[in-house]
Amino acid sequence: MADTPRALVAGNWKMNGLRGASAELEKIIQGGSAGQVDLMVCPPATLIAGFATLAQGAALMIGAQDCHAEAAGAFTGDLSAEMLRDAGAVAVIVGHSERRMLHRETDAEVKAKALAAWRAGLTAIVCIGETKDQRVADQTLDVVQAQAQSSLPDGANAQNLVVAYEPVWAIGTGLTPTPADVAAVHGFIRGLLEGRYGVAGRSIRILYGGSVKPSNASELMQVPNVNGALVGGASLKADDFLGIARAYA
Ligand code: 13P
Repeated sequence: MADTPRALVAGNWKMNGLRGASAELEKIIQGGSAGQVDLMVCPPATLIAGFATLAQGAALMIGAQDCHAEAAGAFTGDLSAEMLRDAGAVAVIVGHSERRMLHRETDAEVKAKALAAWRAGLTAIVCIGETKDQRVADQTLDVVQAQAQSSLPDGANAQNLVVAYEPVWAIGTGLTPTPADVAAVHGFIRGLLEGRYGVAGRSIRILYGGSVKPSNASELMQVPNVNGALVGGASLKADDFLGIARAYA
């Protein structure tokens, strides 16, 4: 299909990695090639500038994990999208379930952060997904629809937005939805994107995230409307991360 977006495999390192982790990044750079898939690593903010320097000219993008909605100001400990861009990031994850839960971020705040990302020239990787209780109660599509509706800004396109479907119960648990379940949710999200953004919605990437490993990547990445992966734990080791990317070899 002409509108099928090029796949993206992005690693979310979360709060992991000291400067010595640049050895792992070098391995990713050496093993990653400009093949069928775009590669991105989102390290902790302390490593962005160093990693961006290492990745210069390589087929690897560097992203960030969160940003403040404002460009600058009296917000101790926070980082603006402009700062992340200045450090060398090209994208920023916003609305990750760990931030929604542990930092009580609302859809409105997530949307403001996505808009901040755009203001700074970054791609916003907006995460949505249901909890275990919501899935059991058969509320998955309602939750995903509500989060998408309220977290995604108007005016999205394939360059400025990536959506990551991350069922909360699949994150760090080793559990994954069945390919049929993933297909149902991703197809539903595609419909939402097309309904809201028209033709542009066809080529916005929808990543799957939650316990993606080299052993299950091929199966998950073949699901219709899965345009790549947002990988947590398995992105910390170059071999595993590249093993997942090879699902697109
Ligand atoms: P895991 O791959 O460790 O389950 O984490 C997924 C995730 O939260 C990526 O953002």
